[in-house]
Amino acid sequence: MMESFAVCVTRGTVNDIDVLMQHRLKLWSEVSARSADEIMARIPPYREWLSAGIEKGCVTPFIAKSEGTVAGSGCVWIRDVEPKLGLNRFEEGYLMAMYTEQHFRRQGVASAILQAAIAYLRERGVERMTLHSSEFGRPLYEKFGFGDTTEMRLNLK
Ligand SMILES: CC(C)(COP(=O)(O)OP(=O)(O)OC[C@H]1O[C@@H](n2cnc3c(N)ncnc32)[C@H](O)[C@@H]1OP(=O)(O)O)[C@@H](O)C(=O)NCCC(=O)NCCS
Repeated sequence: MMESFAVCVTRGTVNDIDVLMQHRLKLWSEVSARSADEIMARIPPYREWLSAGIEKGCVTPFIAKSEGTVAGSGCVWIRDVEPKLGLNRFEEGYLMAMYTEQHFRRQGVASAILQAAIAYLRERGVERMTLHSSEFGRPLYEKFGFGDTTEMRLNLK
């Protein structure tokens, strides 16, 4: 268990799926411009994907609690990458689904989750961590030293 102020962060299991899904729904509702119908349609497949990933061990959730109340969560997904220059192991830790309940914001909850996630990836020997940031997350990630990459995107549909 890792402590930051009054916040405790623990590694979650598939038993935390309901909390993780509540946070996923709130996250999409707050940061995405997509319609509520489109968001709701994505919830069942996301739940299935997340449960399977946790059970296989490639997705690790982190749950932050303050005095027993859930304050936030986040996940790391260890995924394969092609043989890249600069990496000895061809995998990366992808940080996703970072969410802090509104009334717990700016109290270090996401920072505590991020610290726990970084420690976990180091322990597993993962050499690189990546993420896609929302506008709300950017100051947090910059504070931890994340920088921009050269990724580009083309939607094909
Ligand atoms: C982004 C988010 C997870 C941050 O959670 P949090 O628990 O409030 O973050 P922390 O308290 O650990 O903040 C750490 C630092 O990040 C920066 N930061 C966090 N939120 C910020 C904001 N709204 N504006 C400016 N800086 C911010 C600050 O530097 C802050 O340190 P400080 O409070 O000492 O100045 C939260 O705002 C959230 O859930 N937003 C909606 C969902 C989302 O966008 N998730 C990220 C997806 S990539």
